[in-house]
Amino acid sequence: MTATHSTELNQFATDVLEGLSSDPKQLSSKYFYDDEGSRLFQEIMKLPEYYLTRCELEIFEKQAESIYAAFRNGGNSFDLIELGAGDGTKTAVLVSHFLERNADITYSPIDISQEALDALSDKFSGEFPSLRMETRQGDYFQILKSLKNGSGRRKVLMFLGSNIGNFTREQSVTFFRDLRAVMNENDLLFIGFDLLKDPHVIVRAYDDERGVTAEFNLNLLRRINRELGGNFDLDKWTHYAVYRPVQCAARSFLISREKQSVHIKALDRTFEFDQWEAVFMEISQKYTVSMIQEMAAESGFEVKQNFFDDRGYYCDSLWKLAK
Ligand SMILES: C[S@@+](CC[C@H](N)C(=O)[O-])C[C@H]1O[C@@H](n2cnc3c(N)ncnc32)[C@H](O)[C@@H]1O
Repeated sequence: MTATHSTELNQFATDVLEGLSSDPKQLSSKYFYDDEGSRLFQEIMKLPEYYLTRCELEIFEKQAESIYAAFRNGGNSFDLIELGAGDGTKTAVLVSHFLERNADITYSPIDISQEALDALSDKFSGEFPSLRMETRQGDYFQILKSLKNGSGRRKVLMFLGSNIGNFTREQSVTFFRDLRAVMNENDLLFIGFDLLKDPHVIVRAYDDERGVTAEFNLNLLRRINRELGGNFDLDKWTHYAVYRPVQCAARSFLISREKQSVHIKALDRTFEFDQWEAVFMEISQKYTVSMIQEMAAESGFEVKQNFFDDRGYYCDSLWKLAK
């Protein structure tokens, strides 16, 4: 086991202990993405209910030239750094366009999941043999600090797929400020936000008919069993998703079907769950354009340009440092 892996495992154990000791109990969505979790997320992105991926893809396909104009900012060379890149399917559309326009770019995808990075590397090295690429496996919160001293060229940081929706507002602002601290004057930040829409459409995205999202959530219990020696019986749990329109947020939970005890060897602890007790798994925050502007201002940024899909479901927002 490498030092990085053992640090990640310790952090995983610490976070599970903290989450299952809190009231209400919770588990961090950051740990969804083991290899199986990454594979399941790639399946989620293809589901008819999961509109988010298709909206962002539509923006990239239809507006690649405008995005390029905004990224190049009069120049032609920049470093693309993507936080939580996943399999990079949508980013490939942008990269392909930038290369067609002879842009001088490098691409650095960062992801906690080696499985996702392997899928991305296979795809990108096949499609773009001339692209300069440096993949980095690890937690972007840890890797962030090292981004300060890059190549000296202009950086465009990307945080796509409504990944930001998994943070609370406070966490988002802290995260954006941390990003700001590693950015130079002409660097840009490109973020995917899922917008408010019919709540029925939103809730279905987190509770699909085939049960892939349920499987994705339950997989975290499987991961605890395998990596931390837990004895969760997955048949005793059910996935539940709800959308709260006042808070503009979808939330997902795993619900204990019966009163039960679960032992986790690595923590040397047994946790008690009541019948129908909920473990909070993930928040998926939705936004209005003014919420996006407010968050940018609060974190020391200005919105340079917003890109929307045709239905106005989704917004990729490009930020520059505030003066
Ligand atoms: C919701 S998916 C989005 C993937 C991609 N950006 C997209 O739009 O399709 C989140 C991705 O972020 C990665 N991820 C989650 N938390 C992370 C962390 N703390 N550090 C690095 N990667 C992380 C996951 O492995 C996963 O590939």
